[in-house]
Amino acid sequence: MNKIETVKPARPVLGLRMVIWVLGVALASPTFDGRAESPAPVLTLDLAQPGKSISPDLMGIFFEDINYAADGGLYAELVQNRSFEYRATEQLNWNPMTAWELTTRDGGRGSLQIADAVPLHPHNPYYVVVETQEPGAGVGLVNSGFDGIAIQAGESYEFSVFARQLFTGNRWGGKGVLERAAKFVVQLETKDRVVLGAATLELSGRDWQRLAASITATNTDSGARLVVLSVTKGGVALDEISLFPRKTFQARANGLRADLAQAIADLKPKFMRFPGGCLVHGHGLGNMYRWKDSIGPIQQRRGQPNLWGYHQSLGLGYFEYFQFCEDIGAKPLPVVPAGVCCQNADHQGGTGQRGVPLEEMPAHIQDVLDLVEWANGPTNSTWGAKRAAAGHPASFNLQYLGVGNEDHITPVFKKRFQLIHDALKARHPEITIIGTTGPFHSGEDYEAGWKIADELRLAMVDEHYYEKPEWFLNNLERYDKYDRAKSQVYVGEYAAHESNRANTWRSALAEAAYLTSLERNGDIVRLASYAPLLAKQGRTQWRPDMIYFNNTDLLRSANYYVQQLFGQNAGDVYLTPTLAPATTNLAVSCVRDSRTSEVILKLVNHGATIPALHVRLLGDKQIAPTAMQTVLSGDLAAVNALDKPAVILPQTARIPVGRSFTCEVLANSLTVIRLEAR
Ligand code: AHR
Repeated sequence: MNKIETVKPARPVLGLRMVIWVLGVALASPTFDGRAESPAPVLTLDLAQPGKSISPDLMGIFFEDINYAADGGLYAELVQNRSFEYRATEQLNWNPMTAWELTTRDGGRGSLQIADAVPLHPHNPYYVVVETQEPGAGVGLVNSGFDGIAIQAGESYEFSVFARQLFTGNRWGGKGVLERAAKFVVQLETKDRVVLGAATLELSGRDWQRLAASITATNTDSGARLVVLSVTKGGVALDEISLFPRKTFQARANGLRADLAQAIADLKPKFMRFPGGCLVHGHGLGNMYRWKDSIGPIQQRRGQPNLWGYHQSLGLGYFEYFQFCEDIGAKPLPVVPAGVCCQNADHQGGTGQRGVPLEEMPAHIQDVLDLVEWANGPTNSTWGAKRAAAGHPASFNLQYLGVGNEDHITPVFKKRFQLIHDALKARHPEITIIGTTGPFHSGEDYEAGWKIADELRLAMVDEHYYEKPEWFLNNLERYDKYDRAKSQVYVGEYAAHESNRANTWRSALAEAAYLTSLERNGDIVRLASYAPLLAKQGRTQWRPDMIYFNNTDLLRSANYYVQQLFGQNAGDVYLTPTLAPATTNLAVSCVRDSRTSEVILKLVNHGATIPALHVRLLGDKQIAPTAMQTVLSGDLAAVNALDKPAVILPQTARIPVGRSFTCEVLANSLTVIRLEAR
């Protein structure tokens, strides 16, 4: 974590000063050069060359619960603080009743209390007690969701709650006996108490039990509430009060928000990193992400403070993550803490880097080994059996495992990293262990991380960098110079950062140019993931991000479309093109997809329009007479926004092609041409 900050939302329209600044940079910089190229360049490509084998997994995604990416975001749960576990250690004004309030309806009299005497599970200690002295039209509680609950007319919602009876109305002189069932009405309501849908439930018994009901909404409201009303005298305990849309991604139970998950799937990622980011190592040893806390029945998961300043329910845990990977055809790439916590989180109530005490390392290492067994082990193994019991007897085919996240490379780190590494190597030589090289592309941690990689002959290391667009354009040759005998590289976090943190087309174009260099170096750069992936409007701690969303809509940034075009047009063989004369502002890459024999040409022009680029194809491979061309282009300062989502949008057309053809390459554009085999 090299920056933690609160930033203002991106402004769709730049101020005059910014326009002048952008123009100034564009005109002055050798990397975003507005001058026309001359003479007309010729791009020659020998289709018969054997080419260079490159990573088929290059384009992936980085998921971290930052910016409310999980709870309140991708995780489709609509109730906030469903298990009454919010604490003042997460936010000073938080407590177990945050997002909840008492409601009494038409003569109802009663109260709410937080209790912990007989918890649903030790990991989930608090629950609410509803005492109904006089039911009237109901006594109960209202949840306001994550900035409201978005309800859609005609859609169904799945409500569930764990409940137990505590006492009946005779406490207040009535005649009630415990056998008499407690009754509830569950309603979706607008802020003004207009009912959008309702269900009734009955409860009898002193043991925790799960009650559930489906509610179909009659109207749409983006700021609705969930209301649970007790309509009988007495006391009941309630916990894990949950509401999901029935339509989750691929209709998974405890599933993911369909539109967000689909936007991610549309990137065609080859792998998915999880759970971060700094979230992996946490702001203290007690805050590390412990994968075992994130599996099993949701009411048994141990939620914890999120180092980004809110609560993680872990409802979107390892099972949901691996299942999502499978659903979208991405390989899982979990990252486990390297036995140290985050060096940078002091200002968030954290401790700075600390090492797990060495006597506790065997247990820490065992957790890592158990993760591999849980993912891949046979169903008769201890952890493979738990995966099977959760509904997935088949192996999840875990291949990649990150150990550590951009840690400060100290002797404390090194000792613990090596212990984990050695144990993994011995028990699971089939796993590709990915080490870390600190938070920057150079400097002390980077050097020290690489030194460890050399000493241990690591298969792969993770490099991170957030830099200005110019940095990316000036470093297109970075990996051309890497020693192929050393560890391979995972560019685990990167993004071009403008000084105003906006997702400008300029930043996305620089990333596109950089991606051509990663494809060219796909023999050594095996994986790459833009970061972060998701950010909720009004809850964003880090900018820029790839996808922005609120409770009803989402916004694909210009950077999203670049990632998507590279993801959808990936290959496994690199074909070397030649460009004559050398054209400074044109970055080119060319890959072949062996499965389809298609050849994909990517042209990133960060200069003026090239009116005629001549393409000459050599070799006796036949190609179809037309090709699909997709172009992303725009003003360098252009930004997609929720109210203007299509400023930067891919434009597709079929174009005539042949052994020799000419195309115009627009100023500041990414052009992808897919040549089909005939
Ligand atoms: O991507 C956001 C943060 O940036 C990650 O949590 C951290 O690894 C990096 O510094």
